[in-house]
Amino acid sequence: MRILFIGDIIGHPGRTIVASMLPGLLSEFAIDICLANGENAAGGFGITPAVCAELFSLGIDLLTSGNHVWDKREIEAYIQEEPRLLRPANYPPGVPGTGARVLRKNEHSLGVLNLSGRTFMADLDCPFRVADSEVARLRRETPAILVDFHGEATSEKRAFGWYLAGRVSAVIGTHTHVQTADEQILPGGTAYITDVGMTGSGESVIGIVKDEAIARFLTQMPQRFKVAKGSPMFNGVVVEIDPGGHASQIIRINR
Ligand SMILES: [Fe+2]
Repeated sequence: MRILFIGDIIGHPGRTIVASMLPGLLSEFAIDICLANGENAAGGFGITPAVCAELFSLGIDLLTSGNHVWDKREIEAYIQEEPRLLRPANYPPGVPGTGARVLRKNEHSLGVLNLSGRTFMADLDCPFRVADSEVARLRRETPAILVDFHGEATSEKRAFGWYLAGRVSAVIGTHTHVQTADEQILPGGTAYITDVGMTGSGESVIGIVKDEAIARFLTQMPQRFKVAKGSPMFNGVVVEIDPGGHASQIIRINR
């Protein structure tokens, strides 16, 4: 089974890049299941029901998210009804939506778990301990499990990857929008990358118009951030998983 995971899709420019490049990538790598982090796919902040529908229509089977998933209020009702949109599983009990499910497509089944880190981020439940219980639950249904670990600190993300090595098929980092070059297969057959990167404008500061980001740092005053256009960049990884749930290959994509 071959999975394509697309790095955080940033606003309309990101969605346009996905629309133009995804068909070619799906056939080039013979992809069976396509996932993406979509937490900033609507105007660079949050995601809406219409944007979810657009991304599903492009061939994305399931969307993960992170801290920005709540930026558009209408998503709270939608995420209760739409199983193809996950939010981090380590939010407190009672928060709308779910953070883990088994995706079935053709003869394939893939457990997908979305978690948020806590270092330099909101103080959610411990992602390591939540992973223990959620992975055990998913493994009862399928040996193939992919985790989107949405985190800021490279140290927390690498520690998390080693913590799950040999217990899941892949740990894919998201949130920083900067792709790391440390993709590897950890012992026990776990594909790992600290951050898969983003899909949006390469001429930007993590997807935002660069002059606005510079002004924020120069003045320390709030800015009205807009999504950057131009210099399209597609970031992702392809992970190959054997029938036993072990990853044999991770290919980093930066185009
Ligand atoms: Fe994020």
